Amino acid sequence: MTKSKLLIDRRSALKLAGGAAVAGLGVNSFPMPAIAQGAPIKVGFMLPYTGTYAALGKNIDQAFRMYVAEKGDKLGGRPVEYVTVDDQADPPKATENMNRLVDRDKVDVVVGTVHSGVQMAMVKIARETNKLLIIPNAGADAATRAACAPNVFRTSFSNWQPCYPVGKVMKDNGHKTAMTITWKYAAGEEDVVAFKQGFSENGGQVVGELWVPFPEVEFQSFLTQIAEKKPDAVFAFFAGGGAIKFVKDYVAAGLKKSVPLYGPGFLTDGVLPALGEAAEGLQTTLHYADDLDNAADKKFRAEHMKRYGAAPDVYSVQGYDAAALLVIGMDAAKGDLKAVDPMYAAMRAAKIDSPRGPISFSASQNPIQNIYLREVKNGKNAFVKIAHAALADPGTGCKLA
Ligand code: PHB
Repeated sequence: MTKSKLLIDRRSALKLAGGAAVAGLGVNSFPMPAIAQGAPIKVGFMLPYTGTYAALGKNIDQAFRMYVAEKGDKLGGRPVEYVTVDDQADPPKATENMNRLVDRDKVDVVVGTVHSGVQMAMVKIARETNKLLIIPNAGADAATRAACAPNVFRTSFSNWQPCYPVGKVMKDNGHKTAMTITWKYAAGEEDVVAFKQGFSENGGQVVGELWVPFPEVEFQSFLTQIAEKKPDAVFAFFAGGGAIKFVKDYVAAGLKKSVPLYGPGFLTDGVLPALGEAAEGLQTTLHYADDLDNAADKKFRAEHMKRYGAAPDVYSVQGYDAAALLVIGMDAAKGDLKAVDPMYAAMRAAKIDSPRGPISFSASQNPIQNIYLREVKNGKNAFVKIAHAALADPGTGCKLA
């Protein structure tokens, strides 16, 4: 008997042990009849479709569908059905939203999400139910460290990955002191930890940390503190609508020239049309740029423009690769979702010719990828150089059987 046949849904087992809620028995505990080969695969998107991260969710959703459409709208030979839930990047609603997809909609795989706090609630449920979860953005380090699981894969990044290399970039540009400013939640906190590690390894010193409640965008009092302290540079993490407001306010406060602004590329990705001149010259690090010289990216950008009438961004790439990874798994399982052993083995071993460049997966199922230094030139995040080649998250504390 294969290992997959022995896997018992942990949450069902817990319910049974704890006195067997009858509803639980019906949902997960008894063997289900084999699903006919032709039955649709249900893909559940749990993404922010409203709020400061709305554009990020939309781009992930669109590019995922684009990849599946390129494969004839089939996964492992079966048609695809989509279910969407707007998680609003709101952690208190995360458990209920994830339960809706898993228990009520009975999706076969969950693709989500963007916000690290929401993500950790989803990972917990994925671990309890053994539901396949593909993370197309949120960088919560623990998702592929201590909370890693055989059924949890990520096609984006750990928060550590795009932030650790910023310290060396700053040092190379002659900066010795920096302040940090970000939203106060898991992603911002982990970004600052990663940046501080890279900056101190390069002799830099963080002289002040500023924390903005998520998703607030009142930056004025913080910008005044930066102007007073006059560090050599600033490290910032904001994204989506928040990044637009922050960069505009930073420039309007007259800080752009006197205190150069750096950060992970979320600060400028997907927001350049809204930022215009304000973003020109900003240097950031990320696993994507707008002008990478590879065939996969050229095809991807052309198709995205044709299908959606807009240029893709890093979030689109992550959604596109989430679909690519699922196709690899479903093909290996020949469309049989119970065949988790061959499915997960193929996904772990996947080498994807991504628009971002080649990626493979670490032992904790997180991408190993180049981190690029980019500079905004003529409204594009232009490639400058590879800031760190084939960077893998350390995966600390991940134990996969
Ligand atoms: C996160 O919460 O992990 C997050 C959100 C938006 C980004 C990057 C990371 O652009």
